[in-house]
Amino acid sequence: MHYSSYKRGIGLLCLFLFAISSCTKDKLSNPTDKILTEAIESIAPTNNIRDFILPYSSDLDNLPQDKNNRLTASKVNLGKMLFFETGLALDALHDLGQGTYSCATCHVPSAGFMPGAKQGIGDGGLGYGDKGETRTKLFNYTEEEIDVQGARPLSLINVAFTKNTSWNGQFGADHNNIGTEDLWSEETLTEVNHLGYSGVESQNIEGIKLHRMVVNKPLMDEYGYTQWFNAAFPEVPYEERYNEETAALAISAYIRSLIPNQAPFQKWLHGNRDGMTESQKLGAVLFFDKAKCYLCHNNTALNNADNFYAIGVKDLHETDAFNTSESDRRNLGRGGFTGKEEDLYKFKVPQLYNLKTGGFYFHGSSKNSIREVVEYFNNGVSENSNVSNDKTSNLFNPLNLTTDEIDHLVEFLENGLYDPNMTRYVPEEVLSGNCFPNNDPISRIQLGCE
Ligand code: HEC
Ligand code: HEC
Repeated sequence: MHYSSYKRGIGLLCLFLFAISSCTKDKLSNPTDKILTEAIESIAPTNNIRDFILPYSSDLDNLPQDKNNRLTASKVNLGKMLFFETGLALDALHDLGQGTYSCATCHVPSAGFMPGAKQGIGDGGLGYGDKGETRTKLFNYTEEEIDVQGARPLSLINVAFTKNTSWNGQFGADHNNIGTEDLWSEETLTEVNHLGYSGVESQNIEGIKLHRMVVNKPLMDEYGYTQWFNAAFPEVPYEERYNEETAALAISAYIRSLIPNQAPFQKWLHGNRDGMTESQKLGAVLFFDKAKCYLCHNNTALNNADNFYAIGVKDLHETDAFNTSESDRRNLGRGGFTGKEEDLYKFKVPQLYNLKTGGFYFHGSSKNSIREVVEYFNNGVSENSNVSNDKTSNLFNPLNLTTDEIDHLVEFLENGLYDPNMTRYVPEEVLSGNCFPNNDPISRIQLGCE
């Protein structure tokens, strides 16, 4: 009773003050909202919490994009099919691999567009499990023949907010790669940068080839995509309209639209103060303050598109991954691309949405839970014997978080940044009629296609 009359009193006071000034709901709200708002405002680029609001995926004009690949709904629709289309997988090394994999084999939607395993296996892989976790090498491929890379596939959620792509940022003609033109070569798979596209587009043009896929007019006629290409690329001359490059541009448009804006943190940023739980809010306060995560994860998607950092995590060869070793160029991070001493062991700062279902964290998949990741940052000590502590970033330091604080931070990352409805970005079927994201005999059974 006492409380309600107090509330009524405040209400009247507000009503009264409303006439002479603004009396916002903030005055009555939970103090954590206020603390979080101030924490974010103090570090946001324009000192406004709106700096972390993601655009809607249908708001194509406001999604970050490549000026050479303007986003249109027709491109997004076509890309949404091709990304999952196992019917493109026609350059497999052996017959058993033909037509069995897609981009989504290594970027599985239900695993946060990561592989659901420590390593993605495209051509030469077999099986799917629930979300990629049981995929393994197909018996008649050698280890050297399977399509695998020496680092965990990055998530494609929020990829619109990265600029130069890959863990070492080697793709894209612009941004950090200006001045690296002499390094763009077939050997490092970066010759594609000479076409002048941004990171996402460049990587995808190369990716279609690297991942052994085929796109041409007869095949698109056969599946029924020809009209979709006509709608997406009306300005491209007919003879250049149906190929790996246009397919990659459409796929780029689609993955640029993978925006997790139904996550609780996004709801909160839009003004729904009940969008996050108290624990998620406390975790967010830590993220933007005491735990110093924002020092590196400070772009809209809580990634960083400008700087690469060394935090000394283990490389993939330290797990029993396929076809990678101590001498893998990927272990050197940005330095493996630029050849510069000062770039050694520095990696891309990834986005942080929808990570909890991925199950494998950091480029070398050295952690299996978000809690282990947070504990790693809390300890602030390199675990990689090549990266002594003096080679790690001076922003990477012990944090002295309490157990409660770690709990809240984990809760923010696991659930505050989790959009539960990402299946809205997955098509119901692909035009070939094939099973997807995988189409090998074991995956077909596991995916319910048999
Ligand atoms: C065999 C597994 C595999 C397949 C198949 C695959 N990828 Fe990837 N993808 C990866 C790996 C591994 C990385 C990280 C590579 C690196 O940094 O060295 C990656 C990174 C990316 C990135 C960079 C993201 C960023 O933030 O920098 C994009 C974009 C991408 N993939 C798109 C695609 C597309 C489109 C396809 C289909 C044409 C595809 N991938 C198929 C394994 C795969
Ligand atoms: C010094 C810069 C820096 C700071 C500070 C930092 N991060 Fe990161 N973070 C990175 C880099 C770089 C990576 C990728 C490292 C790698 O895999 O080699 C990363 C990776 C991650 C990942 C794994 C993402 C994935 O796709 O595997 C999570 C989760 C994460 N950081 C959360 C946090 C949290 C929470 C904090 C604060 C406690 C934090 N980071 C502080 C730079 C930083």
